[in-house]
Amino acid sequence: MPVITFAHHKGGTGKTTACLNIAGFLNKTGKKVLIIDCDPQANATSGLGVKPGTAGCDIYDVFMSGTEGFKQISLSSAVLTTDTGPDLCPASLDLAGAEPYLYGREDHVSLLKTAIKTVAKKYDAVLVDTPPSMGQFLINGLVAADHTVVTMDTGPFALQGIESLRTIFSDIGEYTGKTVVPGMAIVTRGKIVHEEMSPAREVVDGLKRLLGIPGTADLERTRFEEIMAAMQQEFPLAYAIPYDPMVPEAQKRGIPISECAEDSPAAKEYAEITNVIGGWR
Ligand SMILES: Nc1ncnc2c1ncn2[C@@H]1O[C@H](COP(=O)(O)OP(=O)(O)OP(=O)(O)O)[C@@H](O)[C@H]1O
Ligand SMILES: [Mg+2]
Repeated sequence: MPVITFAHHKGGTGKTTACLNIAGFLNKTGKKVLIIDCDPQANATSGLGVKPGTAGCDIYDVFMSGTEGFKQISLSSAVLTTDTGPDLCPASLDLAGAEPYLYGREDHVSLLKTAIKTVAKKYDAVLVDTPPSMGQFLINGLVAADHTVVTMDTGPFALQGIESLRTIFSDIGEYTGKTVVPGMAIVTRGKIVHEEMSPAREVVDGLKRLLGIPGTADLERTRFEEIMAAMQQEFPLAYAIPYDPMVPEAQKRGIPISECAEDSPAAKEYAEITNVIGGWR
């Protein structure tokens, strides 16, 4: 039963989207999947149709178990079934309040790993969504992981993020003795240029090119190609997901894209990625 953690300390790179949609396709192939939402924003929770804060207990209680004065909650008792297949250990904003307590605990980096061991037999895969910060929940996710998937945007600072990731992974190696080797990079909305090029922009870009000036699309394509080349060099596998309005739409409906638009451009990529991840042990 592999534990797969989606990670990047930068916000909005597609961690939750990848986690939800890969879980959806894993579920479609008959695998029993658990998503653990380790982000106080609780987007994976909402993305599976569960209103944050409405479950009797959630990942906050799991992290706080073992701290004096707090109730003992096992991971399995915080897990919900969802309408679309994957099981979910939800999060809520409360989770942000757990972090200061964790620093005082000697076993703070391995709390999630220990909790996951108690449910391991029930699942074919456990997917962990982490927040955009370098705090305790990202560290717990990485320490628990058998595989790490890094998500990237295509913004001008994307490549700077790789350097910070290297530092984070090597720090974790130093603290815990565990070597974190990311198995895959997913570049989110990476094909936006090709998908979203309006006819007017094509004309303007064409004219610019005639004048020897790089067009907007050319600049974006070059940046995308640079990012993909860097990803291919840094990670064993690198995929790009096209811009696809069905991605936020599925999240709004609280279901994975596999359940509402499995033939859409982003869904097709997530399905392909899931074929690879489905083989991970
Ligand atoms: N392929 C796509 N096409 C269109 N929109 C997308 C695509 N992938 C992600 N998005 C949108 O981009 C936004 C950011 O994605 P997401 O929430 O998955 O990032 P994140 O890394 O989890 O963010 P955070 O760091 O805040 O947790 C979301 O609104 C999501 O719906
Ligand atoms: Mg997220």
